[in-house]
Amino acid sequence: MKKRTKLVHGGTKRSQWGELSEAIFLTQGFVYDSAEQAEGRFIECGPDEYIYARYGNPTVRMFEERIAMLEGAEAGFATASGMAAVNGALVSMLKAGDHVVSARALFGSCLYILESILPRFGVEVTFVDGADLEQWTAAVRPNTKAVFFESMSNPALELVDIAGVAEIAHAQGALVLVDNVFSTPVYSDAIAQGADVVIYSATKHIDGQGRVLGGVILGTEAFIRGTVEPYMKHTGGSMSPFTAWVLLKGIETIDLRVRAQTENAMQVAQALEGKPGIARVIYPGLESHPQHALMLRQMGKGGTMLAIDLEGGKAAAFRFLNALEVILISNNLGDAKSIATHPATTTHQRLPAEVRASLGISEGLIRLSVGIEDPEDLVDDVLQALNAV
Ligand SMILES: Cc1ncc(COP(=O)(O)O)c(C=O)c1O
Repeated sequence: MKKRTKLVHGGTKRSQWGELSEAIFLTQGFVYDSAEQAEGRFIECGPDEYIYARYGNPTVRMFEERIAMLEGAEAGFATASGMAAVNGALVSMLKAGDHVVSARALFGSCLYILESILPRFGVEVTFVDGADLEQWTAAVRPNTKAVFFESMSNPALELVDIAGVAEIAHAQGALVLVDNVFSTPVYSDAIAQGADVVIYSATKHIDGQGRVLGGVILGTEAFIRGTVEPYMKHTGGSMSPFTAWVLLKGIETIDLRVRAQTENAMQVAQALEGKPGIARVIYPGLESHPQHALMLRQMGKGGTMLAIDLEGGKAAAFRFLNALEVILISNNLGDAKSIATHPATTTHQRLPAEVRASLGISEGLIRLSVGIEDPEDLVDDVLQALNAV
């Protein structure tokens, strides 16, 4: 099956009723025909056998198989949120004495895990400028077990060269863990480019309609079944069957939504670039983006997210946000509805001002997650908001 066919049919399991739409198995437990069958299932649980929903559920399994097929991964484990996926992938594989190298430009909660949680358990973490391959080379050591980065950073839209970092990490035997949220499953070829583990917050483009929290960890059969699954099923971060059903329906339309959002993002970026009052329009799809060539090689398209840096700092940013009429002020992203965020006072408020500045998160920076509305309405909205500034 080609990618767009997998989105609709991948992983589907039909019950004896032959339902067209995927069924929601809203059950936390399963019954056995006999005591012997129960005993056997606890000794070894086959791929289409279930014990308890924290361990696995048919609707959740459909979601895991569909997204794994789409990404070209051998297996997947679905989690209660994107952060449960980031935490589960890292903590399940690391132990005291291990070393991790991570890009510094991370979403605040990812940074919290790497900066505040892992060191409490004896894992040392070195942060590098993700775009600088020399820093990755200098930071890896014989005890480096993992490298971690967002393939496109939140919110400054800096790309990390997956193939370049993978070559450096693999030379030391370290696994490459990629948080691929901003690249989206539609434009991802992360495994072919060298990633060992791909992580998504399914809350973003996979749902794409603002309904549920979810996440997924994708990798080899050995990593998912041998390392991730035992940790996740015993610590409780598994996905609910209802969430998996919502996300299965989300995947069916993700290609249509993300491609429409990307076309709209390009139109908004082009309309804003060069306008007075804006210091920078940051969009990987524009030739002015410093990593435009890497974006073409790694993703092929610029994606659904852009950022603008307003010259007037926080006051200008707030005036811009408050003048928007179609685009909503919120902190989610990847949604069918266009969303504007002021990272310095919301998603990245916790960071010290100097760290924010070093990550390019200025007081005037606004992150735009572009939706599927009519592009003319979106362009009119940002231009009239800019006039208000
Ligand atoms: C890059 C990135 N990783 C992980 C997450 C966490 O996802 P969730 O909110 O589903 O836990 C987010 C959320 O914004 C994100 O932007």
